[in-house]
Amino acid sequence: MNRFDYQFPVRIHFGQGCFEDSLKNELQKYGKNVMLAYGGGSLKRTGLYDRIVAMLNEAGKTVTDFGGIMPNPTLKKVQEGQQLARETKADLILAVGGGSVSDCCKIVAMGDTPIPLGVVVTASGTGSEQNNGAVITDEEKKVKGAMWGVFADFAILDPDLTKTVPMKQVISGAFDTLSHCMETYLGHPHTCNLSDRINEAVQRSVIKNLKAIIANPDDDFARSELMWASAMGENGILKLGKVTDFQCHMIEHQLGAYTDCNHGQGLAVIHPAVYRHLLDAGKEKLARMAEEVWSVKGITQAETAALGIDALEAFIKEIGLPTRWSEMGITDERMLRAVADTCFITPGCCRQMSRDEIFEILKEVM
Ligand code: NZQ
Ligand code: ZN
Repeated sequence: MNRFDYQFPVRIHFGQGCFEDSLKNELQKYGKNVMLAYGGGSLKRTGLYDRIVAMLNEAGKTVTDFGGIMPNPTLKKVQEGQQLARETKADLILAVGGGSVSDCCKIVAMGDTPIPLGVVVTASGTGSEQNNGAVITDEEKKVKGAMWGVFADFAILDPDLTKTVPMKQVISGAFDTLSHCMETYLGHPHTCNLSDRINEAVQRSVIKNLKAIIANPDDDFARSELMWASAMGENGILKLGKVTDFQCHMIEHQLGAYTDCNHGQGLAVIHPAVYRHLLDAGKEKLARMAEEVWSVKGITQAETAALGIDALEAFIKEIGLPTRWSEMGITDERMLRAVADTCFITPGCCRQMSRDEIFEILKEVM
């Protein structure tokens, strides 16, 4: 195992029905001015907005609304939030939503004097509430990239709050979790350490429970398993002793800057295509993933690795995610060249790829 330092600063409240108690208790710890941050409309539609405002009023808080945070949040939106937080002297930012709301607020909460942040997760998948990274789009520069903000003080993960998420988003969110696991698993070292073994279990759990929830959206057990898997993907435990490599994410983020596409859908198209290119350099670890996660085995290591990628692609099709850009309405080859030319190139989980190779990959899945 490589050397590591680990500290996890977020208080997690997890479980079906934990939302009201947990929020009530947390609110007592903060001052009067609360900035309530949320997305584009689901919070009001589902009635959660009214429930939260009532709880804030009961706790004697003054509430400032910061709504309209869009999927793939923009730098402009972050700046709007920062100004509002300053003007209203926010004592707490309460971010209620999926990864986009959480990401936006992690940067809003930064500043000369950071503002405490609490996240109520309403859509799982990114695990954003577990880390201090945020993925923000600078629309003018056409760059979607990582920024570093604050860690949340607390995060509330109540699977009941995710019951209104459209199934399409449940699926792309869960695939995002699987992607985080794979991008971590294939990082160095390739010797299988304890983090990798836990990672295999998380991947198997995502696959099983995603199938279960598609078959039965009322499956509360599967829903809560997916929510905790999402947290496990990003709380750092799978990354201990690993150098992770998020090349698939880097490509997808830039695609997001150009097309505003859904994160999990973009990843679904990219993963198998990238891994086919890395078959040779990464066959040892890809073969282990094939056996341990997908339970497939060929005669040679290379064959096993290839069967694993086939199984991943078959799963993507089975759960209704795209495997080609055309399925997402993306047809512009020149735009794909621009994505390849502007995405961040990582050192590589198995070997580094060139911009030309990334363009080839993007064209292969048109
Ligand atoms: O905006 P509203 O109306 O609230 O609707 C949202 C949005 O349209 C909806 N939604 C959320 N909770 C709901 C709900 N609809 C009904 N009922 C609920 N309870 O879901 C849609 C998607 O929400 P969003 O937050 O955009 O999705 P997700 O959680 O997948 O977040 C995606 C963003 O996170 C970034 C992505 O790049 C993308 O910008 N990521 C952040 C990461 C991090 N900080 O660690 C890691 C990831 O790799 C990822 O890059
Ligand atoms: Zn992701």
